[in-house]
Amino acid sequence: MSEKGKVVLAYSGGLDTSCLLKYLQDDGYDVVSCIAALGQPSEERCDIDAVNEKAKKLGAVAAYDVDIRDEFAEDFIAKAIFANGMYENKYPLLSALSRPAICRHLVKVAQAEGAVAIAHGCTGKGNDQVRFELECKALDPTLEILGPVRSWELTTRSSEIEYAQSRGIPVDATKENPYSIDENVWGRAIECGVLEDPWNEAPKGAWAITVDPEDAPDEARDVVLGFEAGLPVSIDGQRMKLYDLIAALNKIVGSHGFGRIDMIEDRLVGLKSRECYEQPGALAIIMAHKQLECLCLPGDVLHTKLQLEHDWSRQVYNGLWYSPLKDALDAFFASTQKTVTGEVRLHLYKGSCTVTGSRANSSMYDFGLATYDKGDTFDRTAAKGFMDLFGLPNRVWAERRVEREKAAGVVAAAQIAAMGQKQAEATGSGEAGAEGTASK
Ligand code: ARG
Repeated sequence: MSEKGKVVLAYSGGLDTSCLLKYLQDDGYDVVSCIAALGQPSEERCDIDAVNEKAKKLGAVAAYDVDIRDEFAEDFIAKAIFANGMYENKYPLLSALSRPAICRHLVKVAQAEGAVAIAHGCTGKGNDQVRFELECKALDPTLEILGPVRSWELTTRSSEIEYAQSRGIPVDATKENPYSIDENVWGRAIECGVLEDPWNEAPKGAWAITVDPEDAPDEARDVVLGFEAGLPVSIDGQRMKLYDLIAALNKIVGSHGFGRIDMIEDRLVGLKSRECYEQPGALAIIMAHKQLECLCLPGDVLHTKLQLEHDWSRQVYNGLWYSPLKDALDAFFASTQKTVTGEVRLHLYKGSCTVTGSRANSSMYDFGLATYDKGDTFDRTAAKGFMDLFGLPNRVWAERRVEREKAAGVVAAAQIAAMGQKQAEATGSGEAGAEGTASK
């Protein structure tokens, strides 16, 4: 047993966390590695057995892997679908959602192993460090959270490679990726490299799970998404569990070139960063879900929900998944979703995805009330009385304004007259003066 006890390291098998594995041992810890499978849609999928092997070779006293693909979909993504979760109205939070899922297991492993700390390989400039710190601490406040990358001296890639070589860490130079990538079944995040200049167009090679819209098939495709109580359950009538549905939809939608996001994002630590995302399934699901909500929910519920969605997304982005406010918002959203059951048709064509139809048994859309044709059940004669009362406060306010303006007009006229009088007196050409002259 090392002097400082055990630390659980969120391990990916990459260069950064491999250096970290050694570094923590040098620092006096026994390292337990832990890697989580969340469903990587691109070819960059890692071989979990090989990662565990590598961890052990580098001195890990134990190597855990957890397959949390279904749990991630059902406990985390599902809540994001309820909330139509999009940070700054654009980014469906793929990394932000995965961290609380990973933290849940890091803490479990730490508790099972009697570890004193959890370590991550995040830099000091990003959001992920905040999420690891806050979310692990929210689950177990007694654990210490270590982020050695923030302070270690291996700040350049070459110094890292040098350290790796000196410590027997295998370095695969061909694996060097020009970007920082994070991915799971909810999508793929791409940052750094040439993207750091926001004017640079993302190179074709940056994208992995969406085809270039120009290369997408000339033939359009319709997809019908079925929802039950706010969650997607089928594609074109074929029922699937949530994880499989998202994975399948990523392929279908991505192959038609839809799902790319290019954004300038406000990080929690205060800086703006340029990030590209590909989230074909996520964007399509949220689009369809919003349409179905419009059909199934009363307007006032929708309007309030819309405001709270923004709060929820910020809360999740900021590493506050495990927080009372986020829980309360989840409870609100859950109560709105019971009747969100139905189908939405999406039309995919060369980079676009549009809603072309929706239907639901408990739809609040009433044909009789809406139609301008035969069968109209709407009482149009009631509209006049409705407007009289609905507009009453505004009408009274307008009347007062007109009165005020009139009164102000009278005052202004009197003031102008008074000014004229004063001026006349000053120049001696006023009425009084004239009179005086005349009397001479
Ligand atoms: N900016 C996004 C977020 O904070 C994505 C982060 C992706 N992480 C990465 N290591 N590339 O949620």
